Amino acid sequence: MSVPQRPVPVVLDVDTGVDDALALLLAVRSPALDLRAVTCVAGNAPVEQVVRNTLVVLDAAGAGDVPVACGSQRPLLEPARDARHVHGEDGMGDLGLPGSTRRPRAVHAVELLRATLEAAEELVTVVPLAPLTNIALLLRTYPHLSDRIARIVFMGGAAAVGNATAAAEFNVWHDPEAAAIVLSSGVPTTMYGLDVFYDVTVDAATAEELATSDDAGARLAGLLIGHQLARFGGTASTIGDAGAVAAVIAPDLLTTVRHPVRVELAGTWTRGQTVVDRRGRAGDLEHDPHRLHGLPAVPIDVALAIDAPRARRLFLDTVRRGSAP
Ligand code: BDR
Ligand code: CA
Repeated sequence: MSVPQRPVPVVLDVDTGVDDALALLLAVRSPALDLRAVTCVAGNAPVEQVVRNTLVVLDAAGAGDVPVACGSQRPLLEPARDARHVHGEDGMGDLGLPGSTRRPRAVHAVELLRATLEAAEELVTVVPLAPLTNIALLLRTYPHLSDRIARIVFMGGAAAVGNATAAAEFNVWHDPEAAAIVLSSGVPTTMYGLDVFYDVTVDAATAEELATSDDAGARLAGLLIGHQLARFGGTASTIGDAGAVAAVIAPDLLTTVRHPVRVELAGTWTRGQTVVDRRGRAGDLEHDPHRLHGLPAVPIDVALAIDAPRARRLFLDTVRRGSAP
């Protein structure tokens, strides 16, 4: 008889966001996860809107009293540059959903993260699905708390091409300095980047079926995927950030390689690019910046492939479970 695993304690850091909403639905409904807190950051939409969207999603998911906190309004150096051209004017598909009566905690996201990590009896998995501003501030403000983090599984970066620019993925491009801080922190980290982000999809017929469900969470998932299909066309649409949550639930979905990854902080065309050093050896040129740079080269797990059919099934089966009794 198999012994049931204890749910993995997780916190999500989000910029909700159409696909962050899918990720929240999956995290709330998965019996494999224990969602301890949700923190919000500017990214797809201004942070106040991100908080509103997050609370609405928790309602639809049927979440219990999961604490939510508002975090950084802008990146460390860059101005905030939202992605409402992708996620809609309200950052979540302009579905006209009623607001939530839930309220965020009256503390900054960094303080909610601190309190959650300190209170947890086990190490907590931190899942940033957004620019890494809150997580960088946490690690700089309370460096000792990195020992309370089991690992970071973040959506961001790419070994291959970018999306916000030719070289850079949106979450890292939005706050490159924050990403550099997190990636050099030494906390065990998995990068769920663009190399896998688009691979897990839901087709139009399934989205329509979900959108007519009696269950509010499944219905919201269907409407959000329908929004993406209407906006970008095609016969299927990515579940995006929700794939990173699926990879926390079932890490063996991913094929990863362990390499040092640095964030380009200076390039004209490449700022925010994640430079994956796949050489498997130290550079032997005297002026190789990877030899000269002062920051430690910390290897992280870079996801290069995902078992997309299994991840899709996991997402759909979990979201369709309905809210917990
Ligand atoms: C990432 O940027 C946002 O638009 C999505 O929510 C995802 O986190 C993809 O580059
Ligand atoms: Ca996101």
